[in-house]
Amino acid sequence: MKKIDPKELKPNVIELISDRWMLVTAGAPDNFNTMTASWGAVGELWGKPVAFVFIRPQRYTHEFVEKNDMLTLSFFAEEYRSALKFCGAHSGRDTDKAAKTGLTPAPTESGSTTFAEADIVLECRKLYKDEIKPESFTDKTIIDKWYPARDFHTAYIVEIVNAWIAE
Ligand SMILES: Cc1cc2nc3c(=O)[nH]c(=O)nc-3n(C[C@H](O)[C@H](O)[C@H](O)COP(=O)(O)O)c2cc1C
Repeated sequence: MKKIDPKELKPNVIELISDRWMLVTAGAPDNFNTMTASWGAVGELWGKPVAFVFIRPQRYTHEFVEKNDMLTLSFFAEEYRSALKFCGAHSGRDTDKAAKTGLTPAPTESGSTTFAEADIVLECRKLYKDEIKPESFTDKTIIDKWYPARDFHTAYIVEIVNAWIAE
């Protein structure tokens, strides 16, 4: 992998997140969890390159993101679509996602976890979190459409401290 400035990220990031999806992973390689996400954003805030990640409270990954300062966002080529589907349809509470998908956990500089098969990796540090609140929606139609179970996401703003792309 080659380290790049996050500003050099080539694919359109909306397409990258919403169409290719990503794995959100927190924890060390010997104790991590990962899940698929297709909602999020990348941009700039507080003078830093940042990403926005949204995780519903019932996800096992939520526990790992809560107890770790760092997380990774990992992107994959199309051939890994079925692995990402698996990680988005099963919980790490009752299955070993790496074993089931064949993805290979790999440590990052900070001791967090990504996967050897990823072709773009963003290593991120938590800066801010908040719960999505029903009273804060200016468009209330979103509430019934996306939160019939009232399981409002936790929104995390994370600093992108390292970005790597496959060489
Ligand atoms: C394409 C796709 C996108 C997803 N995006 C999100 C997301 O942005 N936030 C979220 O909380 N869950 C999202 N999910 C659901 C989680 O990936 C799913 O519930 C997963 O099984 C959680 O695993 P865990 O319990 O091991 O954390 C998505 C699932 C898929 C298939």
